[in-house]
Amino acid sequence: MLSNIFTVGLAAILLGLQGSEAAHATCYNLTIPVTISASNTNLSLPLPVNQSQVIDFATASASIANNITNYVEGNYTLDATYNISARLCLPTYAANSNSSTNRNDTVQFLIHGIGFDKSYWDLPCINGVNYSYTEAALAGGYATFGIDRLGVGLSNPSLRDDATIDPKNEIQTPAHIEVVHQLTNIVIHVGHSYGSILSNGLVAKHPNASDGLILQGYSANGSWVPQTIAGLLPTIAAQDQSFRFINASTGVALNSGYLLSNNMFPV
Ligand SMILES: *[C@@H]1O[C@H](CO)[C@@H](O)[C@H](O)[C@H]1NC(C)=O
Ligand SMILES: *[C@@H]1O[C@H](CO)[C@@H](O)[C@H](O)[C@H]1NC(C)=O
Ligand SMILES: *[C@@H]1O[C@H](CO)[C@@H](O)[C@H](O)[C@H]1NC(C)=O
Ligand SMILES: *[C@@H]1O[C@H](CO)[C@@H](O)[C@H](O)[C@H]1NC(C)=O
Ligand SMILES: *[C@@H]1O[C@H](CO)[C@@H](O)[C@H](O)[C@H]1NC(C)=O
Ligand SMILES: *[C@@H]1O[C@H](CO)[C@@H](O)[C@H](O)[C@H]1NC(C)=O
Ligand SMILES: *[C@@H]1O[C@H](CO)[C@@H](O)[C@H](O)[C@H]1NC(C)=O
Ligand SMILES: *[C@@H]1O[C@H](CO)[C@@H](O)[C@H](O)[C@H]1NC(C)=O
Ligand SMILES: *[C@@H]1O[C@H](CO)[C@@H](O)[C@H](O)[C@H]1NC(C)=O
Ligand SMILES: *[C@@H]1O[C@H](CO)[C@@H](O)[C@H](O)[C@H]1NC(C)=O
Ligand SMILES: *[C@@H]1O[C@H](CO)[C@@H](O)[C@H](O)[C@H]1NC(C)=O
Ligand SMILES: *[C@@H]1O[C@H](CO)[C@@H](O)[C@H](O)[C@H]1NC(C)=O
Repeated sequence: MLSNIFTVGLAAILLGLQGSEAAHATCYNLTIPVTISASNTNLSLPLPVNQSQVIDFATASASIANNITNYVEGNYTLDATYNISARLCLPTYAANSNSSTNRNDTVQFLIHGIGFDKSYWDLPCINGVNYSYTEAALAGGYATFGIDRLGVGLSNPSLRDDATIDPKNEIQTPAHIEVVHQLTNIVIHVGHSYGSILSNGLVAKHPNASDGLILQGYSANGSWVPQTIAGLLPTIAAQDQSFRFINASTGVALNSGYLLSNNMFPV
């Protein structure tokens, strides 16, 4: 069956979008509109306005007596459309004619973790060692499809271009999972860290959505998650990444920028 992803790739080719040639592949940068309906949670937690409030929040999250769940107001259905930025790489099949290594019927759907964007999967060669997951997958004959998660990188080209997005009550795990679901047909999902949590959550909610999972940087034991979150050194987005969260025309920080920490919450 043709997956949505290949349909998009084919459309890119038919539209004459320029693909860039890599050693084993032709790659396309895509922007894909995705409409989702997600069961999100309303949190009454106030947005932090300065760094000391961010630190208070991180400290409170990590404490045994944390009362974060007291801020849960209830569920609501988020119905929204977002532009998701993706990079599709199709292996050059002729270079992989050995049929036992040719996986040209399978797409690996790559989902990055917290603090990264899709470039996580295509890190450069350093000191003669290849760190590119994409290159390795392509060399094995797999097509790869990496996305920037909602609110990250070029997906909905950063919150800066859409101040109506609510980082706290909108960019949540159920919304990420529905974005992945809408982009999924017959593929293997490869997650790193939070991307693994999303891949696992996808299959829990939509068991037929994936033909397989590869989970990196992942444990089913969440007992150290609060300490990990506190250790990520969250910061105020509009101060940390002013180029993304301050309106260039007015110099005013966007609401969306306040809660965001160093690639922690919405991104
Ligand atoms: C496609 O995106 C990659 C980063 O993901 C970038 O390095 C490259 O320049 C982009 N290519 C085009 C043609 O925009
Ligand atoms: C942070 O903001 C709160 C609320 O406005 C204020 O009470 C507090 O003094 C501020 N802290 C710093 C270090 O600016
Ligand atoms: C959570 O705990 C803090 C510190 O004890 C307290 O100030 C706050 O009111 C509590 N919030 C809720 C919603 O229970
Ligand atoms: C949740 O928030 C949405 C949007 O702000 C609002 O429309 C809805 O009434 C809220 N629902 C609950 C259960 O708090
Ligand atoms: C909110 O949704 C979650 C997950 O579907 C569910 O477990 C929980 O009971 C719901 N909470 C409310 C108040 O509806
Ligand atoms: C997606 O991008 C297109 C082209 O730039 C734009 O017209 C559209 O409004 C965007 N949609 C969303 C939901 O941001
Ligand atoms: C094809 O791939 C298999 C598995 O990697 C390998 O054992 C075999 O030698 C390869 N055959 C050729 C002709 O390259
Ligand atoms: C996929 O691989 C098979 C086996 O090597 C080959 O017969 C087929 O033509 C390939 N499909 C494409 C689209 O290249
Ligand atoms: C790294 O990958 C490139 C491109 O696939 C390849 O040409 C090169 O030999 C690889 N280097 C090492 C050290 O594996
Ligand atoms: C930035 O400010 C301009 C001028 O007031 C306004 O038209 C635009 O909507 C603002 N952009 C965002 C994302 O708030
Ligand atoms: C998954 O697919 C099987 C076989 O087509 C079908 O019987 C089942 O209802 C599907 N499950 C879900 C949750 O869609
Ligand atoms: C989870 O990890 C904690 C801390 O290392 C450990 O005490 C606990 O036994 C683990 N739980 C399970 C179910 O393995």
